[in-house]
Amino acid sequence: MLALVLRENSFQIESLPKPILGEGEVLVKISYAALNHRDQWIREGKYPKIVFPCVLGSDGVGEVVDVYNNENNYWLNKKVIINPNINWGLNNYVQDKNYHILGMPTYGTLAEYLKVNVDRLVIKPDYLSLEEAAAIPLAGLTAWNAVFNKGALAPEKKILVSGVGGGVAQFAFLFANAINSSVYVSSSKNSVLEKCIALGAKEGINYTIENNLKNKAKEIGGFDVIVDSAGGDQINDLLTCLKPNGKLVFYGATLGAPNKLNVALMFWNHLSLIGSTMGSDQDFLTMIDFINKHQIKPILDETFSLDNAIAAFDKMKSGNQFGKIIIKI
Ligand SMILES: NC(=O)c1ccc[n+]([C@@H]2O[C@H](COP(=O)([O-])OP(=O)(O)OC[C@H]3O[C@@H](n4cnc5c(N)ncnc54)[C@H](OP(=O)(O)O)[C@@H]3O)[C@@H](O)[C@H]2O)c1
Repeated sequence: MLALVLRENSFQIESLPKPILGEGEVLVKISYAALNHRDQWIREGKYPKIVFPCVLGSDGVGEVVDVYNNENNYWLNKKVIINPNINWGLNNYVQDKNYHILGMPTYGTLAEYLKVNVDRLVIKPDYLSLEEAAAIPLAGLTAWNAVFNKGALAPEKKILVSGVGGGVAQFAFLFANAINSSVYVSSSKNSVLEKCIALGAKEGINYTIENNLKNKAKEIGGFDVIVDSAGGDQINDLLTCLKPNGKLVFYGATLGAPNKLNVALMFWNHLSLIGSTMGSDQDFLTMIDFINKHQIKPILDETFSLDNAIAAFDKMKSGNQFGKIIIKI
């Protein structure tokens, strides 16, 4: 089978043996995969514990073409979305020590075939195209946990989705919009803000213009919840944009760690700074039900062929996408 293989000194399409199934496993013929920034971080060597060679890709949809155990025959020919959690464990709040994400070290979805345990499968909702469904897993799950479990977002609350051009952030925006909370979005790109407003955002704020965010927060009395993946020193600015008792949930640190933290502002205003990573297997199922119930359509940027997947990675690195970058396998 063909797969995009990352080795220490190469990143190219190679022919690999088709996976051999073991107890509890099924074989999925992948039709579409989607990229996450994680894939690009690994490609750049900026991710912990990289194991070579590896096949990247945490997001995928496809059709089940083989099962190891006859009792799993139900899944044959079904179109499925793959849960990218491996070994989350039984605690809904925190992952197990041996947790990892599909797509390194376990071979991922940027390949013609993938073997996974049968308990990783969820039936693809009918109303979604295969490409739309492929966009959901990692980014959707991360946004779900950040917005609802950690942020405790409710319809009457005001949320700021920071850097809404990002893959996770777009799901945070779509989820918050679906429950009719007041959704404010920020981006470095006015074109992204305009698209979000057309999709139901209350207001868009360009975060590259100094004091824009702070002024908006002052005008509306602050946000109840902010979700962010940039981190860095600007966390302090975001904290000033919260209402008393507000929550700043972060799931990434693209700008690195902050050099300082305004702890006095935090304790005086009862602010919470909450870290969040992915979500449990139960969260994955609840999220897919929610997406189905609200008929949420992921925002797609562009679809690349597997042959041209490196160009897709380059686009993710450039940050010029709006919506998920899809790979047709
Ligand atoms: N912990 C987890 O489980 C988890 C899961 C997924 C992702 N992550 C991490 O979260 C980050 C985003 O991942 P992704 O896959 O969504 O990446 P992505 O699609 O490449 O999104 C990156 C976005 O970050 C935004 N950004 C950059 N600088 C910013 C700043 N100064 N302030 C606010 N926003 C800024 C940009 O938004 P605009 O284009 O709108 O300006 C950009 O589009 C990465 O660091 C990733 O590793 C963590």
